[in-house]
Amino acid sequence: MGADVQIIKQFFQSTETQIQSLFSEQAGKQQIQLDVLRLDLIHAQISGNKWFKLKYNLLQAAEQGFTKVCSFGGAYSNHLHALAYACHCLGIESVGFVRGDVVDNPTLRDCQAWGMKLKWMDRETYRLKNQPFVLNQLKENYPAYFHIPEGGDNEAGYQGCCEILSESMQMKYDIFACPIGTATTFKGIAAMSDHRHQAWGFPAFKGLETLRSQLEQSHPSKTFNSLPNIILGDSENVRQHYLNG
Ligand SMILES: Cc1ncc(COP(=O)(O)O)c(C=O)c1O
Repeated sequence: MGADVQIIKQFFQSTETQIQSLFSEQAGKQQIQLDVLRLDLIHAQISGNKWFKLKYNLLQAAEQGFTKVCSFGGAYSNHLHALAYACHCLGIESVGFVRGDVVDNPTLRDCQAWGMKLKWMDRETYRLKNQPFVLNQLKENYPAYFHIPEGGDNEAGYQGCCEILSESMQMKYDIFACPIGTATTFKGIAAMSDHRHQAWGFPAFKGLETLRSQLEQSHPSKTFNSLPNIILGDSENVRQHYLNG
């Protein structure tokens, strides 16, 4: 029998988010209200977007009859940290594939204390982890484990990120902005924006030129109809767009 679906549903049932107003003289002068959605306050260990990304991944694992999950991350991975804690609470066994040489740090110590088994992966293999030959090998070696990609970057992670913006936020705000790592969070936010909104994404990594086409291609459905309203780049890029737009 898999992990308990009802327990997981209950665990992720109430998501209380807080909105905090920021003071900015410049924004004030232009009569712009600047607020921040404090996703970091959702949960002490499963904070930020992790709450949303893990919700449907763990539910899916349970629904498919798994009692064990595995995922990937660097030695300071917030994703592994949150996953380890969630699994600890939900009675799910977890394995974390960690990039690079063996190290010891508070993040990984927490993961282990919460029962996550750590497996070290050399950087080259880690880089290739999504290639079928590496992934298939892993699935062969860990057949009893539900695989969650690095950063929760899959359809289930995206599904959760579509719940970040509430209806009242959609009514209240014109612009939603967020940082981009894997882009899962941004996809969810952009998908829930429409012609009334703009979605601004600030990538932490290089490759801006490919990100936009990735967003278009990787997206499963209608939701990227709002692409003209999506603005990607560094703050200067966005500023220029904003001033011109
Ligand atoms: C609140 C929040 N927004 C956005 C991001 C970027 O995440 P993603 O990898 O989904 O692009 C993070 C990263 O952890 C985050 O915590």
